[in-house]
Amino acid sequence: MAATKTYLTGIQTSGMPHLGNYVGAIKPALEAAESNDTLYFLADYHALDSVKDPEKLRHDVRSVAATWLACGLDPERTLLYRQSAIPEVFELATILSSVTAKGLMNRAHAYKAARDRNAEAGVEDLDAGVNMGLFNYPVLMAADILVMAADVVPVGRDQRQHIEYTADIAGSFNHIYGSSYAFPIPQGAYPEGEGSMLPGIDGRKMSKSYDNHIPLFLPAGRLKKLVRRIPTDSTPVEAPKDPDSSAVFQLLSHFADEERTAAARKRLEQGGMGWGELKNELFEVLDATFGPMRERYDALMEPGSELDGILADGAARARERARATLARVRSAIGIA
Ligand code: TRP
Repeated sequence: MAATKTYLTGIQTSGMPHLGNYVGAIKPALEAAESNDTLYFLADYHALDSVKDPEKLRHDVRSVAATWLACGLDPERTLLYRQSAIPEVFELATILSSVTAKGLMNRAHAYKAARDRNAEAGVEDLDAGVNMGLFNYPVLMAADILVMAADVVPVGRDQRQHIEYTADIAGSFNHIYGSSYAFPIPQGAYPEGEGSMLPGIDGRKMSKSYDNHIPLFLPAGRLKKLVRRIPTDSTPVEAPKDPDSSAVFQLLSHFADEERTAAARKRLEQGGMGWGELKNELFEVLDATFGPMRERYDALMEPGSELDGILADGAARARERARATLARVRSAIGIA
């Protein structure tokens, strides 16, 4: 029997996740939690690089935690915690800095992109607007992962370089101190298939940056309005239609059961089902799927709900793991 692996991922805390995040990240992460050790944390200190509004930061962190719990994360099984509740992460980040080449950071995508933006805008100082949090981001992320001795890190493809950097940094540490303590080298797990992305309300890939997303827990009225805005062609009700060319149908097929999807496909292909009716169907399915989660979300967001206790408990359990790693690391490096 294969040993259980430890899965860890960091969750960005910027705003309420949308349907695309649910399908691409939340649902697979909850499925992975059924058969693995899982640690999922809210990357609040990473957010600090860009969020300078304390009320917003506080709210976003609770909101994203409430979302994952409402979507079915079982806090008994998965350790859900705030990054900021694990001081060992920050101690390890400092330790890792001393085995990390600065040149590696110079080549990091996010940092290079910030410099490119300055160059394009004709700003002379290419580092203008870049804080040390952004520059050090990959080291902090390596600490997030290595402090929990994670084996597998499920992330989006855009995070590939960060995972490679983590492996690199762990390798440097192991090279120097490996006879006393060696980090397991973590592996990234990336979503399969490029094309399985959900369409947004303008038909392009659903993304916050296109502003075409459907947030997870909208009140029913607003959800209905958004669904109505998905563009469709003017094929008359009676005419046969190609379901696969329609964003509405693609969304429906993601969330409706097979029977319902097949029935809609048949009626569209035969003619007799209009886009308006299909949109009503999509709304019903989304409301039925996410309505109960929305209620749970709202309850968790109430001040004094069990949310903060759940996060504190997750942090206490995760911290035991972090402490164990730090004790070994400190002893290996000669600080104890
Ligand atoms: N950088 C990740 C993202 O943008 C978030 C993150 C921070 C993370 N620390 C992590 C992901 C550690 C995995 C492991 O999505």
